Amino acid sequence: MEKLLQVEKLETSFTRDKKKTKILHGVNFHINKGEILGLVGESGSGKSITSLSIMKLFKGTSGEINAGQIFFNGEDVTKKSEAEMRKIRGKQIAMIFQEPMTSLNPVMKIGEQLLEPIRLHLGLDDKKAREHAISMLKKVGIPRAEEIMKEYPHQLSGGMRQRVMIAMAISCHPQLLIADEPTTALDVTIQAQILDLLKQLQQNEGMSVLLITHDLGVVAEMCDRVVVMYAGKVVEEADVFELFESPKHPYTQGLIGSVPKLGEKREKLESIKGNVPNPTNLPQGCKFAPRCNHVMDICQQEEPPEISFANGRSCNCWLYQEERRGIGV
Ligand SMILES: Nc1ncnc2c1ncn2[C@@H]1O[C@H](COP(=O)(O)OP(=O)(O)OP(=O)(O)O)[C@@H](O)[C@H]1O
Ligand SMILES: [Mg+2]
Repeated sequence: MEKLLQVEKLETSFTRDKKKTKILHGVNFHINKGEILGLVGESGSGKSITSLSIMKLFKGTSGEINAGQIFFNGEDVTKKSEAEMRKIRGKQIAMIFQEPMTSLNPVMKIGEQLLEPIRLHLGLDDKKAREHAISMLKKVGIPRAEEIMKEYPHQLSGGMRQRVMIAMAISCHPQLLIADEPTTALDVTIQAQILDLLKQLQQNEGMSVLLITHDLGVVAEMCDRVVVMYAGKVVEEADVFELFESPKHPYTQGLIGSVPKLGEKREKLESIKGNVPNPTNLPQGCKFAPRCNHVMDICQQEEPPEISFANGRSCNCWLYQEERRGIGV
């Protein structure tokens, strides 16, 4: 498998009142060419900040990358200037967000918005750019594409707006598409249609996709591999089948345990007790220790190392260090 993106020891922080708060604490993972990688974790675990770090989209915020590397096609994005990033964003790495209204301009016609990246990155003349834009709208299943070009975002339904966002994102044939909760705001039927569309496009275009979601059902259906994040760190990385079959990290076990199984009736979802810690006040040692069913003394003192397993699996948990020492796994 050839790697398209490799994130190494990434540390990102925000500053408020001259006080710097680390949000990402050495994030490590990679995305292979042509795969869909799922990024999961509870709210506040740092999924969006990871994707914004990859795009270096910190304008208007105090966010900055403090350490680590992000290799895209072998080149370190963290070293690139804003001008260089502008050539990468939209062209090589594109992004779609949960709520299209935040990224579509309400006072610009759909056509004008679609044409902007196409002109900028593909250098097509007006006629060719228009044809390309219309063909992209058709590709994402938008009927009356020519008319939609003349309409404003508010004239479209949520599902149609999300399709426009996808058309815009893939219009310059990016190698990597980052989709941050792309269907959470949509109803279930439309959600399924949009996910189908994403998968189809990913296969036809040979794109890699970083799919950020809360929904483990979506992960099971869409992803090849999964990265699990907790409190600004990756705690487990595995093939999707293996992850659901035998989750290693107690946090992953908790997440999977809180998904109701088909046919099983439960009054309430069993969620993991406690909350994601505040980044300004993190526990010592393993950040999951206060919520963990298997907590040991060492967990409260030292951060667990990343332990590698067969088939590219890894897990940051002292349980497996013990297992290694004890039984010699
Ligand atoms: N602009 C910002 N300034 C300061 N802190 C921020 C900023 N954006 C995010 N954070 C903090 O970074 C942490 C991680 O946030 P992030 O948005 O990456 O979480 P997430 O995993 O995407 O959560 P969700 O599932 O809710 O989208 C949170 O504690 C959040 O408060
Ligand atoms: Mg988020």
